Amino acid sequence: MKLICQSCQTEYKTCEPLWKCRCGGILALDFHPRFPIDKIQKRKPTLWRYREALPIENDRYIVSFDEGFTPLINEHFFGRDILIKQDYLFPSGSYKDRGASVLVSKVKEAGIKKVVEDSSGNAGAAIAAYCAKAHITCHIYVPEQTSEGKLIQIKKYGAHLHKIQGSREDTAKAARRHAETTYYASHYWNPFFFHGTKTFIFEVIEQLGWKTPDILIVPVGNGTLLYGAFIGLQELQQGNIIDKLPRIIGVQARNCAPLASAWKKHNNTNTASTRKDTVAEGIAIVHPIRRNDILHAVKETNGEIITVRENEILDALNYTLRKGYYIEPTSAVAVAGFKKYQIKKDLEVVVPLTGHGLKTKGLSIQ
Ligand SMILES: Cc1ncc(COP(=O)(O)O)c(C=O)c1O
Ligand SMILES: [Zn+2]
Repeated sequence: MKLICQSCQTEYKTCEPLWKCRCGGILALDFHPRFPIDKIQKRKPTLWRYREALPIENDRYIVSFDEGFTPLINEHFFGRDILIKQDYLFPSGSYKDRGASVLVSKVKEAGIKKVVEDSSGNAGAAIAAYCAKAHITCHIYVPEQTSEGKLIQIKKYGAHLHKIQGSREDTAKAARRHAETTYYASHYWNPFFFHGTKTFIFEVIEQLGWKTPDILIVPVGNGTLLYGAFIGLQELQQGNIIDKLPRIIGVQARNCAPLASAWKKHNNTNTASTRKDTVAEGIAIVHPIRRNDILHAVKETNGEIITVRENEILDALNYTLRKGYYIEPTSAVAVAGFKKYQIKKDLEVVVPLTGHGLKTKGLSIQ
């Protein structure tokens, strides 16, 4: 197992406390997972059942609440069949716990005692929860306007909360300054986070009887779910567990859609990064650093990146709530994408619900 820079190809041992290459490039993890299906099926229903596919050397460093293996349920939305993966049912209330469990385990394995992270709320809450369990000090940077429920949660887990005036990018900058002296447990820079979020697709495929669905529709900002799923799919394909990939459809809020415009311009690097406010606070990312990885994943799966308007997100949100799924607006982006995207009859479509509604400011009594 080693880390490899995607820009200059320098290799590093995974015991080195790095989150990016010394040249500034993004690191990928070179790792060869195994999928002993008979063993996996006998284990507890948690994401750690894919133990041989998770890049932690020694079990004693695993930081886990027995999370994962969330229900995949058949539903009927907008007159069509849909498979809903209930990924808002995690200890901290979002699928980010997948990444946090693996990343914080790695942090513990490396003997690191203090970390810093920046987030629009959910990833920060997830890192704070797992650091609380592992007795690791953590500093979480968030934009000032983040939902109060998420701020309270981060604080109550015992993290040091830093509210930053300005944009999501200003928050990231402040965290990176702090990361000059403290390990950066970043959910979008750090490859170990993606090797946690990949368990989403392992579970879907196991729950479907080790079969690939036809289409996967996911919200995308920094791509931790979209690109994590792609890593997982590649691993399953290389392990001969599956022989085809689902089409990945990434959905962005039209008010902040740099990936959708890059997709339209056929990967032209000078994409517009304008930003208006959106109710989808979790995916309001102007400069996704793994942009090329995300576009590559979508292209390889014959997928697409589409956008939805604010009124479409709110309609999808209200529709989903009335179906009994208590989610936040960012999660409704995928449901709005499902409604909008033309799908041939009889195709199997999986849509994750990524974040719990109880901690969001996006819902009110009106
Ligand atoms: C509820 C929810 N869904 C989806 C996402 C999308 O994740 P990413 O920005 O990694 O693409 C986020 C990110 O914070 C989120 O909070
Ligand atoms: Zn490099």
